[in-house]
Amino acid sequence: MSEPKKLFIKTYGCQMNVYDSERMSEALGGQGYVETKTPDDADMILLNTCHIREKAAEKVYSELGRFKGLKVEKPDLKIGVAGCVAQAEGEEIMRRQPLVDLVVGPQSYHRLPEMEAKTRAGEKALDTDFPEEDKFEKLKNRPKAKRGPTAFLTVQEGCDKFCAFCVVPYTRGAEVSRPADRIIREAHDLVERGVREITLLGQNVNAYHGAGVNGDMTLAGLIWELNKVDGLERIRFTTSHPNDMADDLIEAHGTCDKLMPYLHLPVQSGSDRILKRMNRSHTAESYLRLIERIRAARPDIVMSGDFIVGFPEEAEEDFQATMDLVEEVKYGYAYSFKYSTRPGTPAAERAQVDPAAADERLQRLQALITRHQREIQDGMVGRTVRVLFEKPGRLPGQMVGKSEYLHSVHVKGPEIAVGDLKEVRITESGANSLAGELL
Ligand code: SAH
Ligand code: SF4
Ligand code: F3S
Repeated sequence: MSEPKKLFIKTYGCQMNVYDSERMSEALGGQGYVETKTPDDADMILLNTCHIREKAAEKVYSELGRFKGLKVEKPDLKIGVAGCVAQAEGEEIMRRQPLVDLVVGPQSYHRLPEMEAKTRAGEKALDTDFPEEDKFEKLKNRPKAKRGPTAFLTVQEGCDKFCAFCVVPYTRGAEVSRPADRIIREAHDLVERGVREITLLGQNVNAYHGAGVNGDMTLAGLIWELNKVDGLERIRFTTSHPNDMADDLIEAHGTCDKLMPYLHLPVQSGSDRILKRMNRSHTAESYLRLIERIRAARPDIVMSGDFIVGFPEEAEEDFQATMDLVEEVKYGYAYSFKYSTRPGTPAAERAQVDPAAADERLQRLQALITRHQREIQDGMVGRTVRVLFEKPGRLPGQMVGKSEYLHSVHVKGPEIAVGDLKEVRITESGANSLAGELL
């Protein structure tokens, strides 16, 4: 038998890219590849890229430049670019960086084995199609190896919302839901391999409407099915759009025991004028009322969100409306970004906000978010939470895991194993994590 070839994958961007990298690794596993942790001894390097902001996209080119030396040393080394930059820039990547052998968009990953063979034959391979076939079915090369206690599972991909700032509808394509039975089968497989918590993924995961036994299923319907899977302890999902937060999903937050009390529900801005210009089709008020209903169903839920600061035409009073909304919601976590112009999106053509003003607003927003985050985390002290342990901590005898609310919790206890789910009393709140003791 020949030596296995080595594959180095570097993943940027969102959780869906993490999931996709696993699938690509499995697909190339069928071609005799095993993963390696460094590019230095790789036979193939794959960058799984993100196009969401300019910085993310530019990183790819600087990273590629660094592989020049490696390719000189090892002419057989193949270099590939996958993900959203691949989809958005396609051939442009090969033009800008001739050492790239392969470019594959997110909807074509199942074609990776043939593409790899093509590069071995000395040709370049490019595929940025949106093919009709179900790539997930073709990617189901399921290894039986044990894995960690948490996993991602893509249930929906793509987006039809076309927010004025966003590249995702172009890079991931139209919204598509996977059939429920395939997702449930994949969940069973994951559980057999040691997984106890699954995060369902989708760019608009709560718009899920996959084929079920009795017609289309909602995300809540799917969650209830997964709730029946023995050995699966926790279910999460991300990312949701406020307009697709259906009644059955809100209700599930109050009644479904495996569904965790944490919800990522991006709003982007607190100003109705800006929300309209963003094409978000919800208002600050409708978002706040929605959160009221979610909290009525599950009072202890921890909310998380995304914000864009300095969107074209954002005035100081628009920004103030965002600050007011944050003050009202009090997020346990929130991610805020300075608006980044994305060529081809509607907002790119509009009057841009002075970058210095945008920077200053971003700092104010982040300070407020950090204060709330801190308060919510500190509020956990004295409470009992259930922690799913994921890995050893930095100190000897220490283990780290996540609470229901997604807080990292450090616990000392030599008797704790990875994958254990245990009750912990929180004793301390540190900079970015909690500490506690086993009950
Ligand atoms: N599907 C999700 C978001 C996907 S992108 C949703 O509907 O909210 C993740 C986050 O990146 C977005 O929520 C947004 O806050 C941010 N983002 C997207 N495009 C951006 C841009 N052009 N500039 C800055 N931030 C952006
Ligand atoms: Fe982008 Fe808007 Fe779609 Fe989210 S809903 S992926 S922000 S276009
Ligand atoms: Fe980035 Fe594509 Fe995800 S642009 S955020 S990798 S969907």
